[in-house]
Amino acid sequence: MAEKLVLVSDMASTMKQVPSNFIRPLGDRPNLQGVVQSSDVCIPLIDLQDLHGPNRSHIIQQIDQACQNYGFFQVTNHGVPEGVIEKIMKVTREFFGLPESEKLKSYSTDPFKASRLSTSFNVNSEKVSSWRDFLRLHCHPIEDYIKEWPSNPPSLREDVAEYCRKMRGVSLKLVEAISESLGLERDYINRVVGGKKGQEQQHLAMNYYPACPEPELTYGLPGHTDPTVITILLQDEVPGLQVLKDGKWVAVNPIPNTFVVNVGDQIQVISNDKYKSVLHRAVVNCNKDRISIPTFYFPSNDAIIGPAPQLIHHHHHPPQYNNFTYNEYYQNFWNRGLSKETCLDIFKA
Ligand code: OGA
Ligand code: NI
Repeated sequence: MAEKLVLVSDMASTMKQVPSNFIRPLGDRPNLQGVVQSSDVCIPLIDLQDLHGPNRSHIIQQIDQACQNYGFFQVTNHGVPEGVIEKIMKVTREFFGLPESEKLKSYSTDPFKASRLSTSFNVNSEKVSSWRDFLRLHCHPIEDYIKEWPSNPPSLREDVAEYCRKMRGVSLKLVEAISESLGLERDYINRVVGGKKGQEQQHLAMNYYPACPEPELTYGLPGHTDPTVITILLQDEVPGLQVLKDGKWVAVNPIPNTFVVNVGDQIQVISNDKYKSVLHRAVVNCNKDRISIPTFYFPSNDAIIGPAPQLIHHHHHPPQYNNFTYNEYYQNFWNRGLSKETCLDIFKA
């Protein structure tokens, strides 16, 4: 098998300096001192407790404001039990703590594989590596994929399946709320992204960012937008996520049992640019490793994505994008490196 270590989770603890392939060019470093702390600018925190009660229209309004002003919001009382969250965190930590030879059984460089461990962002196309390992699992419908997931740690399949089932519920209800907040029918977006079979896609990633000896030289993940409809992120107690707001990077520090939700590229298109898929990144630190677990909710490959007719006004707000199939978009997403350019440019009208 591999002669030199491929995963940062296995090399990090022995290093005093980051290897040269992780070092960003001078103009593209995190500038950790320049970051706005969340005490100054706050990503809105929205309580979903009464989403299906008399308070619904107020919550929808909060979502609308957050999506227009930040492209991001945080949610509490989302309905996922604490125990389910604890289990997915624990099994993620156990997975990355396995011996390298055991982990590497899951390693692949094929971005379309239904279960794969990799490192950085896209080892096939990027010039500079990122200080991250990740296990990415396709998870809807679960029965189609569960046998491909790692069987070690022994509880992984069960813990991930339970978490994914709960997260599917959260995704569907948030997308309904976003659809409503745009003035569309409640089921409009879920219907569009389901494609012919009415089956959207869901992936889970377990991101592992080891402590880094020189965090000012590299990224956990460089600035990017997500290829999704929405992304719902669970983070442990270590800060690292930053969101671009008015040209400044704002730290989104973890709040226990709270998810960070962001609008992905597909909502930007469907909303005809009313909501923006906002740049965000993960930085690393020299003290503590960090785990984050995004749930990616995105269209079926055959779904046809384009601005919703109701959000097009031919004179003052024409369609900003041409229609495309999700498959066309997704091929393009993985073939380009993780550059700052959004991959929506080629579909601009
Ligand atoms: C992602 C992502 C942020 C984080 O995986 O797309 O933006 O904090 N992660 O890990
Ligand atoms: Ni992201």
